[in-house]
Amino acid sequence: MLVSASEMLTKAKAGKYAVGQFNINNLEWTKAILLTAQELNSPVILGVSEGAAKYMCGFNTIVGMVNGMLETLNITVPVALHLDHGSYDGAYAAMNAGFSSVMFDGSHYAIDENIAKTTQIIKDASAKGISVEAEVGAIGGEEDGVVGSGEVADPKECKQIADLGVTMLAAGIGNIHGKYPANWAGLNFEVLAKIQEETGTMPLVLHGGTGIPAEMIQKAISLGVSKINVNTECQLSFAEATRKYIEDGKDLQGKGFDPRKLLAPGVEAIKATVKEKMELFGSVGKA
Ligand code: 13P
Repeated sequence: MLVSASEMLTKAKAGKYAVGQFNINNLEWTKAILLTAQELNSPVILGVSEGAAKYMCGFNTIVGMVNGMLETLNITVPVALHLDHGSYDGAYAAMNAGFSSVMFDGSHYAIDENIAKTTQIIKDASAKGISVEAEVGAIGGEEDGVVGSGEVADPKECKQIADLGVTMLAAGIGNIHGKYPANWAGLNFEVLAKIQEETGTMPLVLHGGTGIPAEMIQKAISLGVSKINVNTECQLSFAEATRKYIEDGKDLQGKGFDPRKLLAPGVEAIKATVKEKMELFGSVGKA
């Protein structure tokens, strides 16, 4: 059964580790992530952007697929199905379809409007036991056509939003979605420390997990980050393994064109990436 992200993140914050949010794109992705979480006895959050939801034929299709897998694959570790960077309407659609967690990304609204909309969502989500992530300070980079410039969040605004009763809070600290440019300045730990000081026990969320060096990840966790989002890195591993399969001519040998064979190396590559991240985040054995 799907669970909200609340308990797993409270435990992560107290235990000084982070739970990975891995974004899904299709059946293979979902299966690879769930099997790895179960094998490593780790809690996990499946992230779904609105674009990915559209691609996978809507929230109902995804909820059906994930619930089916939990049962058929005997997944017993805590799994949250989370809307990533949801709009206001998107958050309601995901909640109504059976998502156990939603992010309302109101970072592009003025703070007052972000507060008003976040407050309403929290009220309706809590009534259903659904966890809510809010965001302050847009995350840079491009995701699903939304381009942010990588703002650094104002710790006082973080406190304002945290006090509304959100489950977890994403705050921009120089992190961006996708690959980091060679001249990237790194995470702003000074601001992160201030945000943690202002928000206390609130689990903090680090977006743009792809390509952040291990020591920065560890430092971020030590400063209160309890959820780390990873998307691009699984896409890159999948693409590289699939490219190799084709370049080696494997699709031309025997029944190598069978999608169950053709997609298998990519699935194994996603599993390896998820395993590496769970080990780095410290969530292994924490289910
Ligand atoms: P990356 O694609 O950079 O890993 O970011 C993922 C993310 O933050 C999803 O919200």
